[in-house]
Order: sequence, then C-alpha cells, then structure tokens
Amino acid sequence: MIYAGNFKTNHTRQSTREYLMKMQLHHHKIKEGDRVLIFPPITAIDNYDVNFTIGVQNAYPIQNGAFTGEVGVEQLEEFNIKTILIGHSERREVLGESQEFIAKKFNFFKDMGFEIIYCIGEPLEVREEGEEAVIKYLLTQFKGIDTEYDNFLVAYEPIWAIGTGRSATVEEIASTHNELKRYINKPLLYGGSVKGSNIAEISAIDNVDGVLVGGASLKTESFLELVLH
Ligand code: PGA
Repeated sequence: MIYAGNFKTNHTRQSTREYLMKMQLHHHKIKEGDRVLIFPPITAIDNYDVNFTIGVQNAYPIQNGAFTGEVGVEQLEEFNIKTILIGHSERREVLGESQEFIAKKFNFFKDMGFEIIYCIGEPLEVREEGEEAVIKYLLTQFKGIDTEYDNFLVAYEPIWAIGTGRSATVEEIASTHNELKRYINKPLLYGGSVKGSNIAEISAIDNVDGVLVGGASLKTESFLELVLH
C-alpha cells in the first residue's frame, strides 16, 4: 500500500520537521513493500533525513523565470524533490487550473522524470447521474495526459468526499477503481475522507493500491493509525 499525506495549507517548517522526525521513529514498523509520501507546504520543503518520499503539492512547469509567486524546477532541485501532485481538485476548482494547463504541467514534469501523482475526481452532480457518467467524466480528465508514462500514479478523489468526512462507499470505490483500471493500468490511490475508522475496509478493496490523505495526515498519530493499521 501507498500512503500519501497531503498537508495542503497546513503546518509550518518547524511543525513539519517535528512531524517527520516523529514519523521516522516509527519507520521500522511499516510493512515491507508499503510506501509513505508526504506533501508539506512549499515553505516547509527541506532536505530531511527520513525514509519517506517528500513531494510538492504544486510547482510551475518551468526551470526558472518570471512567474511571480511560483516555484520552478530550479527551486525543487535544491532539495532533491522529484515527486509532485498534479490535478488536485482544489487546484482545478479553487485555483482555476484548466485541463489544458494541467496537461502542460504533466508533460513538463514527465519530461523532467518526476514521479507524478495525478489526481482526478468528479463533482457530486456527476456521481448522482451514476457510475457510467462518473467514468465518462473521469476519462475527460486524462485529456492531454500521456498515460503510458511509467513514473505516475493516479489518485481517484471524488470532490464530494474531500474534507467532508463522508468517504465514498466501498461499492463506489470498488466499481470506479475496477473500471478505471481497464483504461489506465497504473497504481491507483483513493482519496476523500480516509481515516482510521475506514482504512481497513478501503485498503482491502481490490484495485486500491494506496490512499491520498488530507485531514487525517495532519497529525502523526492519525496518519500512523492509517499507515500501521
Ligand atoms: P481529505 O483530503 O482526506 O481531507 O478528505 C483528501 C485530499 O484532498 O487529498
């Protein structure tokens, strides 16, 4: 299983360091073959001496240049960052990233050899139309994406399940993941209100290769509950 923690706009540099040091103390308990990735806010990126992958939640598809407020590959290289989240629904919906821009970003970071966690997910009104509509919608989020790229993972995160406390049901996750795997044969994470009380049933679903966790990743105790379940 892959356990990815997305801090979003939470934690400081100092609290991230404390968090990672605490996590590191439990590293030996992690099952062989399992993997932990942490995505802190950009100000907390550093060269940490830990056995986890540190990635960024976002970056601009450029080496360096005039992109006020953005961070390019030059800044990531200083900290050996080679993993990035692309397509998260908060960037699509709140920050207004279009599929075209997301595809541009994907292809740029692909050319740079980054490991990409590519996020997709449908809004509630699409889920309410049924499974077929969901798959059709999700497939549009692969427009312009090279799904043959070997260093990428997909995270399926229904928008209505993110930060709401209401995860998708086991049936919904199972059928969407099964269907998605028919089209895109990549490791597939589920995200959306994953927590201690539902990790056992979610991780037991066929074709769930891992989880992308927001809220429950913010404290080491609650994240360890998932990672060591
Ligand atoms: P959540 O967020 O676990 O707080 O629902 C998941 C995500 O947005 O990656």
